[in-house]
Amino acid sequence: MNLISATPTSIQLAAEIIRNGNLVAFPTETVYGLGAEALKAQACAKIFAAKNRPYFDPLIVHIADLSWLEKLCARFDQRARQLAEKFWPGPLTMVVPKTDLVPDIVTAGLPNVALRMPNHPVALALLNAAQTPIAAPSANPFGYLSPTTAQHVAEQLGNQVDLILDGGPCAIGVESTILDLSGEPPTLLRPGGLPVESLELVVGNMVVPKAESPRPHAPGQLPSHYAPRTPVEFLPGDFVFPANKKAGLLVLQTPVENLPFFKIEILSPAGDLTEAAANLFSCLHRLDRAGLEVIYVERVPETGLGRAIMDRLRKAAAPRPGG
Ligand code: TXA
Ligand code: MG
Repeated sequence: MNLISATPTSIQLAAEIIRNGNLVAFPTETVYGLGAEALKAQACAKIFAAKNRPYFDPLIVHIADLSWLEKLCARFDQRARQLAEKFWPGPLTMVVPKTDLVPDIVTAGLPNVALRMPNHPVALALLNAAQTPIAAPSANPFGYLSPTTAQHVAEQLGNQVDLILDGGPCAIGVESTILDLSGEPPTLLRPGGLPVESLELVVGNMVVPKAESPRPHAPGQLPSHYAPRTPVEFLPGDFVFPANKKAGLLVLQTPVENLPFFKIEILSPAGDLTEAAANLFSCLHRLDRAGLEVIYVERVPETGLGRAIMDRLRKAAAPRPGG
């Protein structure tokens, strides 16, 4: 098995694997990433192959050290610096103009690169040991649920990755918030682990596209994404229990009635949206393994991390390509 507990020794080994142009899955505070040396196009190509990811979907570049900014970014303006100072390391990804050092495969040919400094001791130690920026999407097959434990990665991509560093479950549990700073005003591309409310306090004038809008906001973010294999539907207001269907339920809090669902997963018994985000993908993974015909999901309030949760649930419930 290539899953190994993260220790100083295994992190050194992982750094060597990265330096040799191969793939390492590693924990971040949001979700597990599938990493390759960001400045080597051939290493990054392996990420696309392992995930079966289309080349139009660009990768996020992770750094542990601000000294990389001038090498990777053609412009990292005052506002970006202010955001980095306030929110890095943390679940914020900034899209900024790139330099020629960043291979085109990383940005899917776009003139901008997405950058973030993860807030996880194992990710930071790996970046420091490898002495290179690491390109890393979430470590799941394209379109499927993101991994928030090393076991999720092993189940989904075990054979495609050279080493999986186990750093325990991810504390935040949804991907980073992505802010595009390449144009004016800045635009939210993906709600995520950093609440929009926190961003808005620093970036007064920013575009937050309507949550229900059918258009994908960021490249690669297709309408159907983050989806379990089992069909997902929002619980309708006038819900009638499906008599002859093996149905599962994902709810925010403990349901008041004893509902006859085959399997029920609760995001946060206390109704706390931060705790709910941390549990979201694990709950969906368990529901997806339960042999259900349909997973009903309850809507959550769209404040704080609730916005990222609803974004992921909408994409999980969106019509699938070809089906
Ligand atoms: O929390 C996270 O962000 C995790 C961890 C591993 O850091 N990573 C992650 O990566 O969620 P991924 O590949 O699943 O999502 C990356 C998304 C792309 O699908 C795209 O929408 C956006 O980031 N993106 C990346 N580069 C971009 C660019 N140059 N311009 C616009 N959007 C970009
Ligand atoms: Mg992803």
